Amino acid sequence: MQVVMIGAGYVGLTTGACLAEIGHSVICVDVDAARIDALNRGEMPIYEPGLEELIARNRTAGRLHFSKRGASAAAEADAVFLAVGTPARVDGDADVSYIETAASNIAPVLKPNAVVVVKSTVAVGTCRRLREIIADGRAGLDFSVASNPEFLREGSAIQDFLHPDRIVIGADDRRASARLEDLYQPLAERGVPIILTGTANAELVKQAANAFLALKIGFINDVANLCEKVGGEIEAVARGIGLDKRIGKDFLSPGPGFGGSCFPKDTRAFAAAGRKYQAPQALIETLILENERRKIALARRVLSELGDRPQGASITILGLAFKANTDDVREAPALTMIPILQGAGVTVRAHDPQAMAAARLRLQNVSFFDCPYSASRGADVVLVLTEWDQYRSLDLREMSALMKGKTLVDYRNLFTPGEVTRHGLRYVCLGRPASKLPVGAAIVARGGKKRKLALGAPSRL
Ligand code: UDX
Repeated sequence: MQVVMIGAGYVGLTTGACLAEIGHSVICVDVDAARIDALNRGEMPIYEPGLEELIARNRTAGRLHFSKRGASAAAEADAVFLAVGTPARVDGDADVSYIETAASNIAPVLKPNAVVVVKSTVAVGTCRRLREIIADGRAGLDFSVASNPEFLREGSAIQDFLHPDRIVIGADDRRASARLEDLYQPLAERGVPIILTGTANAELVKQAANAFLALKIGFINDVANLCEKVGGEIEAVARGIGLDKRIGKDFLSPGPGFGGSCFPKDTRAFAAAGRKYQAPQALIETLILENERRKIALARRVLSELGDRPQGASITILGLAFKANTDDVREAPALTMIPILQGAGVTVRAHDPQAMAAARLRLQNVSFFDCPYSASRGADVVLVLTEWDQYRSLDLREMSALMKGKTLVDYRNLFTPGEVTRHGLRYVCLGRPASKLPVGAAIVARGGKKRKLALGAPSRL
């Protein structure tokens, strides 16, 4: 099938490459000419494991092309996917102006019987609205608009596309459903369940799925807080909860608050829809507030590790991306926490295996290092914010020797308390009792002054 993908961002690029991989002929289009030129030179505009190889293979096979000319590409397509950005507006609702512009741009050139497929996450009712826009721009054209939400996680997007739990097809007519069923036939043959429903339902599935997953994270973060107070251990509790199949074991890892391009934006849009249609989403409204409060509270908790005068201390951040295996820093906890630390007079040094270029554009007065050990030299506190495998295998003996202070704050629970304290480090993690200060580490020398840290104080949140 001839497919055009309008928008070569994370979603469009990955989906386009994967559709080529399952046998379709795909042209990815973007208004960013530099991005298309780079892709045509074989350069990747984003970091996504396996994507470079996938794109190279499908370009060589002649199934994947990149173009700046959206209109001429769309004129030949059986399915035109819209995968452009839908950033949050001030009221939380998704701004659909880019997708509406893309729809009106392709209206004059669409071929008869074309199906326009909305991939971007949009508010319920957007497909109907796009149908009107295209019909206005092209009187008499016989076409369809469908919804086909993506459930790709950054960092494992290719795997998620090729082995999804389900494919949701939102279509309000037979042509649209048949076209998308044909498109996904190679995956359906492998047993992937296909959910065929109307466009409004498909739009709601996407928003509600992300809202529910985000709720799971908010819930486990709250349980982790309680564990810290009562001496519980979050991993044991999460396992005990998650083995109940009705709950499920995924998305029960405590962390510094969810971030990324989807959960924060989609929960805000879901809450905005609830307000707009007088169907309040009170759980989600609370979740949004609590998730932001958590990032702030956890930054303050790091400061409290420095006693009552953090000025002049040096904190090393390990992990700037909102999660591992991506270079994306959108709504990353690091972006909220670093300015709070700096506001208290702390000097911030940072490392991330992939996200430093993006972080440099959004942070000021941070020293970036290519290696986590150099970044940690002389640090009073090392703070782990992203669960990169590289950090799991850090040599804690070396870290301890390099650091000036002796506190490792781990907001991803990458280590066990025993292995950290064995190397003379105090360990602060989530949902487990705080470790006692190792012998001899109670006095931290900084700026010539010696101060005593609170011994094994229960974590404050
Ligand atoms: C998400 C959805 O998972 C995906 O289906 C959708 O299409 C896009 O949004 P993504 O944003 O790439 O994907 O990341 P995801 O792996 O879902 O993580 C989102 C956030 O939740 C991250 O900040 C992550 O660190 C956090 N998280 C996730 C936790 O804190 N704990 C968990 O157990 C899982």
